[in-house]
Amino acid sequence: MPIRRSQSLVKWIFENQHKLQTVRYCSSSLRYKELEENAAQAQPEHVAPSMAAPADKPRPQITPEISFKHEDLQVRLAAPYQLNPKPEVTDLGFGKFFTDHMLKINYFKQLGGWQKPEIMPFENLSIHPAAKALHYAIQLFEGLKAYRGVDDKIRLFRPDLNMERMNLAAQRSGLPTFDGDELIKCITRLVQIDQEWVPHSETSTLYIRPTLIGTEPTFGIMAPETALLFAILSPVSAYYKTGSDGAVSIYADPNVVRAFPGGVGNRKVGSNYGPTIEATARAAKLGHHQVLWLFGPNHELTEVGAMNIFVVYVNEQGDKQLSTPPLNGLILPGVTRRSIIELASQWEDLVVKEEVITMDRVIELNKKGRLLEMFGAGTAVVISPISRVGFLDHEIRVPTMSQAQPVYQRVKDTLLAIQYGHIEHPYAKVIS
Ligand code: COI
Repeated sequence: MPIRRSQSLVKWIFENQHKLQTVRYCSSSLRYKELEENAAQAQPEHVAPSMAAPADKPRPQITPEISFKHEDLQVRLAAPYQLNPKPEVTDLGFGKFFTDHMLKINYFKQLGGWQKPEIMPFENLSIHPAAKALHYAIQLFEGLKAYRGVDDKIRLFRPDLNMERMNLAAQRSGLPTFDGDELIKCITRLVQIDQEWVPHSETSTLYIRPTLIGTEPTFGIMAPETALLFAILSPVSAYYKTGSDGAVSIYADPNVVRAFPGGVGNRKVGSNYGPTIEATARAAKLGHHQVLWLFGPNHELTEVGAMNIFVVYVNEQGDKQLSTPPLNGLILPGVTRRSIIELASQWEDLVVKEEVITMDRVIELNKKGRLLEMFGAGTAVVISPISRVGFLDHEIRVPTMSQAQPVYQRVKDTLLAIQYGHIEHPYAKVIS
């Protein structure tokens, strides 16, 4: 092509890019038309006559799937050169390393909803800059773990509860819901494929992070028509740093709240976590590890860091009591929290209660020598004992670490015994 002609062609393309967009649009309209025609030909048995599109205006067959199905799972394994070396257990930290594969499930409303689940080599996501997840936090995540037991079998801990919570969070943000059992089966396959990444150690686990994001690239604050559910795996060890006594110090800052009535404190959405960073940094400057999140004029204890909070004290009847705030909308319904309540309720020497606990109550119990222990509980950390609480001008020394037979330790030992297969228990599901 003569130079002058090609120059003018480049100039034309530059000036007419908007028209090229239209060409692209037309071609996708053609695809749309093809879908419409296919839909018109197919006689879907599952569409009730009253719901069927009018005959004169054929529409694509939109039958949003209730869920993706594990039986449709497609697996593409990483080539040998794509496999990563496994880090030493001592180097793990939390969420710094990732395994060789990931799970992805797309949702396209226009194509009938959930697409086929796929397991593939771990890869970066390509996401439109206008995706709703990036602007309006239309997203959610979960955290569960795969444990390598003493018998070398791999177990998941109550994954059904994570699925339940995921669907509740999805509903709240207009994200598509799904059948939790199907996702557990897909995740199970993913863990089986990357099973050598489940640490051979009882101080470490494989953390599973299922995540659902709204990918539709439009600025309207509305339910996204496209979404991506993915799950990635990370071998992990301890989540929190502790003091030399193995416990954490926490700062109860009455000027910040994590959650409020009617909000999303009870849903595992990213927007509950990002905005805690400034308050946590302030607590760190004052020499504390975590924030004790309070709510209301009575300074009710809600959560600590990213964990549920538990208090052990001697009650008015002289009995040892394990208490945690009730699920009143401000509290994440933690899987560890629920398991502790259920397990400890069977111990005859302990009263277990879900009750509102205020800072005044903590101070009063401490003054009377009846405050025995405080600890945080969550999937990432399991149990984190607390030895000090800073609040206004109070410095509360909690004798958690000086108990002869601390409840926190008993709870932790019981959970770990189930998770690592020292005892067979219905909470732990063997998957490999
Ligand atoms: C958990 O313990 O399950 C958590 O959610 C902590 C995580 C946000 C790091």
